[in-house]
Amino acid sequence: MKKTLFGIIALLFCTLASAQEFKINHGPYLQNMGSDEVTVYFTTSKEAFSWVEVTGDKWTKPQRFATMFAGQYNAYNKENRVQITGLRPGTKYRYRLVSKEITEYRPYKVTYGDSIATAWEEFTTFNPKQQSLSFVLMNDGHDKPQKVKNLLGKFPLTNVDMVVYLGDMISYYEKEEAPYYGYIDPSVEIFAKNKPFISIRGNHEMRGKLTRNYMNIIGCPNDRFYNIAYFGCTALIMLDPGEDKPDTQPVYAGMNSYDGYRMEQIEWLKKEAKSKQFKAAKNKIVLMHIPPIVTDDPNIPEEYTATELEKHFKPLFNELGIDIVISGHTHRHIVAEKGERGNNYPIITNDNEDVMLVNSNKDGISIKIISEKDKVILDRKFK
Ligand SMILES: [Fe+2]
Repeated sequence: MKKTLFGIIALLFCTLASAQEFKINHGPYLQNMGSDEVTVYFTTSKEAFSWVEVTGDKWTKPQRFATMFAGQYNAYNKENRVQITGLRPGTKYRYRLVSKEITEYRPYKVTYGDSIATAWEEFTTFNPKQQSLSFVLMNDGHDKPQKVKNLLGKFPLTNVDMVVYLGDMISYYEKEEAPYYGYIDPSVEIFAKNKPFISIRGNHEMRGKLTRNYMNIIGCPNDRFYNIAYFGCTALIMLDPGEDKPDTQPVYAGMNSYDGYRMEQIEWLKKEAKSKQFKAAKNKIVLMHIPPIVTDDPNIPEEYTATELEKHFKPLFNELGIDIVISGHTHRHIVAEKGERGNNYPIITNDNEDVMLVNSNKDGISIKIISEKDKVILDRKFK
């Protein structure tokens, strides 16, 4: 009896001790990878002062990078995003996280607690001379980390430039843990310490009381969820269609204004399309969670945004010479062929059970889709 009681007390003590342990509890994961920069994201279990040390190329001694604003380093925080700049294209670097717990932060006395220095990890910056782009893409994971891991295993990630998550990787953002549990932690485990992912919002990432924090934990170049990136001969256009139902739906409580936000993206894209880089891009790939085509009963509220996208974005995509649109959201594999509904480009909607490998180079765009059960769903060249 005494032994059992002692065991229970010891277990309780260990549990409490581990709950209070100072550690990196999420990450590091790489975001906003470019040819001369990358941003490292991670969280600590307690308030701390954290930075990233980088070595490689001309930096024989580790260089220290920390986030600073108006003369103060970011400190007494848990969520970290540290931008590493001054890198050279197509170059390999090593990095590690260093963090000092802050046990007390008084006006005239700061007390540090435990310190952490992680193992060194590697990354390689993008090479702008590289003409091809390849990425693995999945969507609609809805809080299923094991499925994310299974799908990530279908294509060798060493051969791709990055992974793209095309929305609804979580169902709601009500708890801080949701995005980490749903897909970020499995990504860190498998590739994201060394290779970047791009996360494009789905309508479900817009639900829940923490939704406005999403831009603090994933890369948002230019502080936007919609963006464009150029890789060799490819323009990757990432759009953010918003919720699926009208802004006036009672469940949104008057707090959404996606109609105007979609129009803002149209104006932005029209402007971007005038750039030399856009015009020179041989392959123009659009990534957007909700497909710009109605795939269900057009009278149901859930098809409102698809209807709007078909009405406003479809003609714009035709005008700009978009080569392919890749979407998710429907939980069905659908290929809307070029010309099927006035679209001068194919629209591929990826199922929630499948993973896609996209290769884009001067010879065109090829897509292979494999299901979680290893069935080849699609294997086609689209251009
Ligand atoms: Fe969705």
